[in-house]
Amino acid sequence: MLFPLELKLWMILVNWIGMSCIPGSEGYNTKLSFNDTDDSDSESDSDEADINLEAIAKKFGLEHADNASTELCYKEEKSCPLSKVLKAKYLDGPNVYVDFTSAQLTWRQTHGGDEALVRAVGVSGPYKPYVIDATGGFGTDAYILVSYGCKVRVFEKHPLVASLLEDGIRRGGERLGPQFRKNIQFQFGDSLAYLKSLNRSDMNQTAIIPDVIYLDPMFPKTKKSALVKKHIRFLQNVLTPDPSNDEDLMRVALNTARRRVVVKRQKSAPCLGGVSTKTFIKSNRYRFDIYVTNVKSKFGNW
Ligand SMILES: C[S@@+](CC[C@H](N)C(=O)[O-])C[C@H]1O[C@@H](n2cnc3c(N)ncnc32)[C@H](O)[C@@H]1O
Repeated sequence: MLFPLELKLWMILVNWIGMSCIPGSEGYNTKLSFNDTDDSDSESDSDEADINLEAIAKKFGLEHADNASTELCYKEEKSCPLSKVLKAKYLDGPNVYVDFTSAQLTWRQTHGGDEALVRAVGVSGPYKPYVIDATGGFGTDAYILVSYGCKVRVFEKHPLVASLLEDGIRRGGERLGPQFRKNIQFQFGDSLAYLKSLNRSDMNQTAIIPDVIYLDPMFPKTKKSALVKKHIRFLQNVLTPDPSNDEDLMRVALNTARRRVVVKRQKSAPCLGGVSTKTFIKSNRYRFDIYVTNVKSKFGNW
């Protein structure tokens, strides 16, 4: 239980870390599509769309380049009424955006039964852990955890992906209500820097140590990659694989999580960073490796 002063200090710490996590000031080049005329049904005021896209670009360090391989627009979307949607595409590929109210996710939430991920993080009866999702991506896993009652702090460091995720969380908050807004926190920046800061003696007086740290590093492209869904394909196109980042995340997570680290893997993939475990839960498509940590900490809970 946090006292108000501790809570304030924590918010200061979170903001400070958030600022310091923001990737370098060099910017990320993408084509900012201010005058997208495809959407003939759109009733949006184009000036407003321009202002918003400009503000979003500024916030995430996105810089316009005509010849960029990615393109970003902010406009109405038939499947997401009442709100403009931030959408990106890679070359001539399909638009991708975050929609936590999609039919697919809603079906999964209401008919999905036991989610392997939810069991892997240890949700059990009234116990709902505080999870740091250190590899946010499009936020689907974070959303699933929140919908099962976990509090989730989700990090994403890639400027373009982060802008899409924040937009999805904002719209999700409008449609899914206060419980969703209360239980998900988005952070643009490097989760590795944040996790390291939790271990620093000058920081940890106000730190909130996560019960669980969840990692879902990008899978390498396989022969079956042609079949992957458009969101994964988009990530494969815009992200550069960084095995040392993934291994560092694993190492720091194991020293930080109060109870466990959970890593999503392809079913037959080796364990992340060669750190083996005999505890895992399999779903139809994935394996969730579980590392019990039981890191003792005297610091606060969410
Ligand atoms: C495979 S995706 C995660 C997909 C996600 N689980 C979902 O449900 O959509 C991995 C993401 O982690 C992000 N990432 C990797 N290392 C990170 C770090 N150190 N800090 C923040 N984000 C990171 C990548 O930019 C990428 O978007």
